[in-house]
Amino acid sequence: MLQSRRILLIVSGGVAAYKCLDLVRRLRERGASVRVVMTAAATQFVTPMSFGAISGDRVFTDLFDRDDEHDIGHIRLSREADLIVVAPATADLLAKMANGLANDLASTVLLATDTPVLIAPAMNPKMWAHPATERNVATLRGDGISFIGPAAGEMAETGEAGTGRMAEPMEIVAAIEAHFGGAAKPLSGRKMVVTSGPTVEPIDPVRFLANRSSGKQGHAIAAAAAAAGADVTLVSGPVSLADPAGVNTVHVETARQMLEAVEAALPADVAVMAAAVADWRPATEVTAKMKKTPGSGPPALTLVENPDILATIGRHASLRPRLVVGFAAETNDLIANATGKLTRKGADWIVANDVSPSTGVMGGDANTVRIVRQNGVEDWPTLSKEDVAARLVAGIAEALSKADAS
Ligand code: C5P
Repeated sequence: MLQSRRILLIVSGGVAAYKCLDLVRRLRERGASVRVVMTAAATQFVTPMSFGAISGDRVFTDLFDRDDEHDIGHIRLSREADLIVVAPATADLLAKMANGLANDLASTVLLATDTPVLIAPAMNPKMWAHPATERNVATLRGDGISFIGPAAGEMAETGEAGTGRMAEPMEIVAAIEAHFGGAAKPLSGRKMVVTSGPTVEPIDPVRFLANRSSGKQGHAIAAAAAAAGADVTLVSGPVSLADPAGVNTVHVETARQMLEAVEAALPADVAVMAAAVADWRPATEVTAKMKKTPGSGPPALTLVENPDILATIGRHASLRPRLVVGFAAETNDLIANATGKLTRKGADWIVANDVSPSTGVMGGDANTVRIVRQNGVEDWPTLSKEDVAARLVAGIAEALSKADAS
């Protein structure tokens, strides 16, 4: 997809520099050629030799390089690239770029170029939130420069958390692919059904049983899958979110309606069941509003079990999708409960997360998940729900293409 694209990767001094070795590898796997420029600070984190070995090219660190300057090295470096990627971009390098400083090779290349630039910032959350950095980022955006990340999560420094982590290498790859016309559609030709939001189970015409699911995670997954080229049907309970662009959204209220809509969307290659489906519903739906009758006390609410949509799809006799992904929102014994669900419901992966009120996951924007599979558990850092979605979709695309290849 990135066949013969020339990428100039500028690495500045941050702990995340080591992740860019993987970034180079991923880009080269996709057919891109990658040339690396490192700032002096970057070489304190990763050696130029490592980048040289992975990129298969010499690494550039000096503005006044005896071998290159006769050939105007910095100008040639920027001219010979289709895209310049700065990852990790420190607060210092952003400040230099925003102010047009050019006192080392990296900043000089960036000032001397009219090639498009994509920046993946990485810094301490306080530095990212500082008004000076905010001004610099706004200036750079105004100059037409694109950004990917930073994400929220744990920092390398112990006890530090917040927004400032560099976007993951695969997210940077996706942003680079999107830059080149979105040619990369890893899920094109795939059909996917996603559930999202709560279900609402009527007690009478005005009352219902529901839960606190916002639908943010499920909607983000549907949007990411559509962006990755999938033909997506999103079956959503009542939420206050807009229908994601490019997604066929079916609005339902109850678990039974949700099941019916999901079954109608089959066959599909992938099912991601992110809805918080009510386990029970009132046994009888009263067609007239229930009245308070003086002296007779509160009515008894009898509940019956709802269909389990994930289990129905995961064990579907004829139309089981090739990849069935469920969620497990737990307040205790996360892995044990998630593993139990994996087996019981016939899912391939369970995305497990802790929804204890103190985590703020329910209704919040960030999510810390663990991916539970039959062969082990993968811990992900705290990410925005969009980033969880992007990573999940990238994993789904990879799993499908691996399955195709085997
Ligand atoms: O059993 P529990 O509700 O914790 O399981 C969560 C997973 O099962 C989620 O993927 C959810 O969407 C799905 N589920 C379902 N139908 C139900 C209950 C849960 O699809 N009735």
